[in-house]
Amino acid sequence: MKSYVVGGAVRDELLGLPVKDRDHVVVGATPEEMVRLGYRPVGKDFPVFLHPQTHEEYALARTERKSGRGYKGFTVHAAPDVTLEDDLRRRDLTINAIAKAEDGSLIDPFHGRQDLEKRVLRHVSEAFSEDPVRILRVARFAARFGFSIAAETMQLMKDMVASGETDYLVPERVWQEFSKGLMDERPERMFEVLEACGLRERLLPELETQPELMSGPLTVRFALLAWSLAEDEVETFCRRLRVPNEPRELALLASRNREALEAVARASPEEILRLLKATDALRRPERFAELLEVARLAAHGTDFTRLERARSAAAAVDAGAIAATAPPAEIARLVDEARLKAIQQALS
Ligand code: CTP
Repeated sequence: MKSYVVGGAVRDELLGLPVKDRDHVVVGATPEEMVRLGYRPVGKDFPVFLHPQTHEEYALARTERKSGRGYKGFTVHAAPDVTLEDDLRRRDLTINAIAKAEDGSLIDPFHGRQDLEKRVLRHVSEAFSEDPVRILRVARFAARFGFSIAAETMQLMKDMVASGETDYLVPERVWQEFSKGLMDERPERMFEVLEACGLRERLLPELETQPELMSGPLTVRFALLAWSLAEDEVETFCRRLRVPNEPRELALLASRNREALEAVARASPEEILRLLKATDALRRPERFAELLEVARLAAHGTDFTRLERARSAAAAVDAGAIAATAPPAEIARLVDEARLKAIQQALS
């Protein structure tokens, strides 16, 4: 049996980038042999094992054939007669289909190195179309590396979208790739690619305009997308992609308070207090800081320093002391009054 490092690790090493996870392919072995050698089986859908010491993943070389719609519709064939080249052929892109042997030599039957040099994302074979999530992967690799897309790959992606195969995408897998793309160097490239192949319109119909400036954590980047959307559109979008709670919450908050935030430079102390309450700014200062980061990027040119000064002043009011002496029914009103006074002073 022989093993090879494959996929992202080989690609990133050739690009001179740091390597995170190393995936291995094993040729000429059976699952029983792997277990006998001390590897721990972990794969549900295909034979993958963890190395007893390094805990890196070792997958038996396999071929996959489409046998139905969607993610699960695959027939996997893993056996000692599956060659390394067979395994590389089923992969998405040529730059992800290079293997490195134990002696350091590269096996590159689909010319991935040439495409790395030419900075091109190109599919390995027609098998690309068997997994529509690969369209999102191409879009996010474009966002990460700034590579162009081979004309034949773009055509194939357009055909896949037009055929309706992408309508069966599993939301969790979409979010997994989409969120990675949002965090990449040039997220706007991901949107351009999705637009060009037609998937943006099918999968993200709400997102008609693309954000230009994107930075910060995932929550902020996702909320930037939602800036121009109505609240119910954000809800629909998040439901469709099963967006996790934190990015969803910030996006909803941004959408709900967009107008007030854009108008904050002219807002009265009363309006500012209302905004601080609506955004739960005093109890959730970190989330509020993220909301301001979103607002600054989306409404560039707007001055948010008054709002920040008002928040600090309102936060300094000792609500506990008021609560200790006031009758219970009066506490909320008296705390509001004290906060309003503090904001008025801070802004005068
Ligand atoms: N792969 C594929 N099709 C997919 C997912 C993965 O062909 N839909 C193959 C590619 O060869 C890829 C490898 O499996 O390089 C490992 O996939 P993954 O770890 O998801 O991605 P990486 O390429 O390692 O990229 P990243 O650095 O973003 O994790």
